[in-house]
Amino acid sequence: MYEQASHALLNEILIALKPEIGNMRLRHFYTRLGANFYAIHSLFHLLYGGRTDFKEQMVSLVETLAFRYIERVPHLRRSDLERERDYNWFMSQKWVGMALYCDRFAGDLKGLRTRLPYLQELGVNMLHIMPILDCPPGHSDGGYAVRDFRNVDTRYGTTEDVEALSATLKRRDMLLVLDVVVNHTSDEHEWAQRARRGEKKYQDYYYVFDDREMPDTYEETMPEIFPTTSPGNFTRDEAMGKWVMTVFNSYQWDLNYHNPAVLIEMIDIILFWANKGADILRLDAVAFLWKKIGGTCQNEREAHLLLQLMKDCCQVTAPGVLFIAEAIVSPSEITKYFGEDAINAKECEIAYNAALMSLLWDAVATKNTKLLNLGIKNLPNKLERATWLNYVRCHDDIGLGFADSDALLSGYDPAQHRRFLVDYFIGRYSGSPARGLPFGENSETGDARISGSLASLVGLESALENNDEGAIDTAIKTILLLHSVILSFGGIPLLYYGDAIGMLNNLEYLADPYQRDDNRWLHRSRFDWSKAERRHQHGTVECRIFSALKRMIALRKEITAFADFDNRQLFVVDNPNLLVFSRTDQQNSRNKVLVICNFNVEAQALLIAPLLPHGLFQQGSMKDICSGERITAENDALMIPPLSCYWLAD
Ligand code: GLC
Ligand code: GLC
Repeated sequence: MYEQASHALLNEILIALKPEIGNMRLRHFYTRLGANFYAIHSLFHLLYGGRTDFKEQMVSLVETLAFRYIERVPHLRRSDLERERDYNWFMSQKWVGMALYCDRFAGDLKGLRTRLPYLQELGVNMLHIMPILDCPPGHSDGGYAVRDFRNVDTRYGTTEDVEALSATLKRRDMLLVLDVVVNHTSDEHEWAQRARRGEKKYQDYYYVFDDREMPDTYEETMPEIFPTTSPGNFTRDEAMGKWVMTVFNSYQWDLNYHNPAVLIEMIDIILFWANKGADILRLDAVAFLWKKIGGTCQNEREAHLLLQLMKDCCQVTAPGVLFIAEAIVSPSEITKYFGEDAINAKECEIAYNAALMSLLWDAVATKNTKLLNLGIKNLPNKLERATWLNYVRCHDDIGLGFADSDALLSGYDPAQHRRFLVDYFIGRYSGSPARGLPFGENSETGDARISGSLASLVGLESALENNDEGAIDTAIKTILLLHSVILSFGGIPLLYYGDAIGMLNNLEYLADPYQRDDNRWLHRSRFDWSKAERRHQHGTVECRIFSALKRMIALRKEITAFADFDNRQLFVVDNPNLLVFSRTDQQNSRNKVLVICNFNVEAQALLIAPLLPHGLFQQGSMKDICSGERITAENDALMIPPLSCYWLAD
């Protein structure tokens, strides 16, 4: 759009930029800046238009974009151009992700390079390395309390190691995902230190208050994230003699995006890591970016404006780089992180599908799919060119974030049902084989989340202890069933590093004074390579899980109907133990895959009549892609074995 005010300003800025960077090859930069400047200017004005230094800040933002563009090396610029041309590249079914800690998985970044064959053997080609930036040795929140955004923690390696890893991954057609912790810094970050020493400029980077008046007002409506380990949202800093907002741990200071300098710094950091070769950046805790008195300080409209700005700016300098929104919020809020009021994703192209994750755990505990079906049915539509990150579990606790309205429709009292689920997974419910721990139990609200490794939560740990073959089989089937959903649902599946070999809970964290109060470390153990070796030994638990997953992953990559183009149709069937949906190939609508999952421990029948009008089961049988077997309807019904999944095609 041609808009005079922003156009005039753009001209002024470009003229001012010229002397310094005049002879750089900026053709693509100028085109992209021209295309996005109206949006950037408007958003920046919405947020900061009232400030007297608005223009100065705007200039500083554009300079940042230009300088980072000049630094962007030719092969990354080429990849930007390629991805601009092939703009749906990340919607393809060929991507399969894994999140891992580089130290716990492979020692350090160099070690990680030597472990890539393991990932490739499994079929993983998108690697989310958990945060690796410089953190205080103790209070690090697993890497999410960053002390220096531009340096890799010496325990893991160097920035050059990241670049080398990125190059290695590229050669193997693998993607690198890195974190940018946009919401807060460690209290040992230079900005925090300088704020502490009384520098007003840096106090303005955070939410700093002289007394409790403002904090108390905020607290009236802000929930607590870590009620047991870090209650409240403010911490008194004795050295500074002031209160500072700390939504997560007391040593994680929330950045104040009311100050445009903070946004510009963060965009600079985003582009810095884009320039080090990250293909995708995971933006941490994005729901929390904007704080406002009288609200929960989550999902505020301004948080979305900030993300749009980050995206628009990234598209100018490093358009090939995607964002993942880590917004573990209610289903109705999550999809907003793709962007609203647009057709194509305008904030983050990818978002954690926390809704599906929590619904899957519900199905495991209840052994039915009532809530799962409703939750999927009521999941808001995504924008185009936006895709889910589908996961069974990640490094964090499992929150039961499904919609209360869906729980009610399923016939549950939401609070009671959540209590049941927590009890089920922490083994407080009689008959449950799960071995989790409650995380963040809030005695006031009754809320709680769940920690524990996938294998331990689905009963593998207790089954092995009891030497119970039947229970071992059930646990393995459950692990595979959950993965069969994330592999077929639509979106990028994200595996968690120990899960493909059934790693159990690990209590080592209790010996570490910095970890023992945070039981998420229960499921963040050192990867056990000798256990992984057993994947080659026929009949072992490791082999049974690993080989089945490996096969499903390989098959997924071949099934073009699994690419994510909002091409999923959910079938509401009358058996409440089944999840049934079809996926249709974008290019050829006759090419359909029917996914049927049985979450019950008994075999379940599915009537095929409702499927027939959709061109499914026309010949009375279909082929299960996973087993290669033909599945034939008898008496107009199919029998789905316990805890299993079919991917059916003609
Ligand atoms: C994100 C991370 C989590 C961390 C929190 C605070 O949610 O996933 O591990 O504790 O942000 O940074
Ligand atoms: C994340 C999530 C929350 C999670 C927490 C730490 O930002 O919003 O659900 O429990 O951080 O694990």
